[in-house]
Amino acid sequence: MNTNIYKCLINKNTNINPVWFMRQAGRYLPEFRKIRKENPNFIKLCLNKNLINQITLQPMERFNLDAAIIFSDILMLPYGLGQEVEFKKNFGPFLGNLNINNFLKVNEEDFANKLKPVYEGINTTSKSKLIKNKDLIGFVGAPWTILVYMLNKKSPKKKISKNLFNDEKLINNLLKIIEKFLKIHIKNQINNGASIIQIFDSWAGLVDEKNLEKYVYNPTVNLVEYVKSFKIPVICFPRNIRNYKKYCEKILPDAINIDYEIDPKKILKEIKIPVQGGLDPKILLTDKNNIIKKTNYYLNIFKDHPYIFNLGHGVLPETDPIMLDYLVKYVKDFK
Ligand code: CP3
Repeated sequence: MNTNIYKCLINKNTNINPVWFMRQAGRYLPEFRKIRKENPNFIKLCLNKNLINQITLQPMERFNLDAAIIFSDILMLPYGLGQEVEFKKNFGPFLGNLNINNFLKVNEEDFANKLKPVYEGINTTSKSKLIKNKDLIGFVGAPWTILVYMLNKKSPKKKISKNLFNDEKLINNLLKIIEKFLKIHIKNQINNGASIIQIFDSWAGLVDEKNLEKYVYNPTVNLVEYVKSFKIPVICFPRNIRNYKKYCEKILPDAINIDYEIDPKKILKEIKIPVQGGLDPKILLTDKNNIIKKTNYYLNIFKDHPYIFNLGHGVLPETDPIMLDYLVKYVKDFK
C-alpha cells in the first residue's frame, strides 16, 4: 500500500497532510439525508449493502479526501450479539435488555451471518474507483465504550451511574465476550478490504484513573495487537482521556486521534507516534477566516510531525458541505 495515509503512518512522512473526517458520511450531506428519510430504521440502513456502499462513497464524490470510512455504527456489535438496538430521532441510540446467557449462545458464524451485509458492503466499496490508491477505514468501538452502551442502554451524559458497574463478575464476563466478537468484527472488515482500523473509545474520559488499566488499557491493547497481526495500521481515539501520553505508551497504536479540548502543543511535546485530528468541529460552523486561522494552528504545530488532518470529533449535522470542501482544499494546498 502506498496511500498518503500509509506514507504518514508507516514512513512517517511529514511533507503531506492526508485528510479525512469522522462522520464524513452523515447528516450534513443532503444526499445522505435523502436516503435516511427513505430509511427510517437506522440499523436496517446499516444492513443494506448497496446503501452502505453508496453512503460511504458520498463524501468521496464531493471532496478530495484520502480515505473513506465505512458507513456503519459501533453499535452493530451489540446488535450482532442479539441485544436490540434502535435509534430514536433527537434521542440517539436506545438498547434493549441485556441477557448474558443469550450472548453466550452466539457463535462466530451466527454473528458473522447477522452482519454479513456490512462485510459485503465493505467488499464492494473496497473495489471502487473512487478510493483507488486511497484507504478504506473500518472501525469498532473500544470494549469499554461498547460496555457502557450495553449496560447504560443509551448515551451517557457527562457521568454514568456508579452502581451500573457494581457487578464485577458480570463486567468481566461481558468484556470477554465483547473482546471476542470485536476481534471477529475486525477480522471480517480486514478480510473484506478495510486497509486501516480505527478504534473509537468515545467514553474513555468517564473512567477514573484507578480503573483505566482494567477497563481501558488491558481490553484495548489486545485489540490493537490483534489488528497489527494483520499488518494493518490501527488508529485509536480515546476521547477526552486525561493522559494521552500514558495511553499511547500502554496501547502503542500506529496513530492517536486527539479531541478538541487537549492542547496540541502538549501532544507534540509528549507524543512520538503520528497524530490525527484535533480541530473543533464547531469551527466549521463559523467563517472561512476563522477556519483558516484554527487550521493553521494545528498544521503549524504538527508541521514536522506525521499528522493526519481530521477533527476532534465528528462533523456536525449543521455543517455546510461548502465549508468542508474549502477546508479540504486548504489542507491539501498547505505548504
Ligand atoms: O462517517 C463516519 O464516521 C462513519 C460512520 C459512523 C457512524 N457512527 C454513523 C452514524 C461512525 C464511525 C460511527 C461511530 C459511532 N457511533 C461512535 C463513535 C464516535 C463518536 O461519535 O463518539 C458512537 C459513540 C456511535 C453511537 C451513535 N451512533 C450515536 C451516539 C448516535 C446518535 C447521535 C448522532 O450523532 O446522531 C449514532 C447515530 C449515527 N451513527 C448517525 C450516523 C451517520 C446518525 C444517524 C441519523 O441519521 O440519525
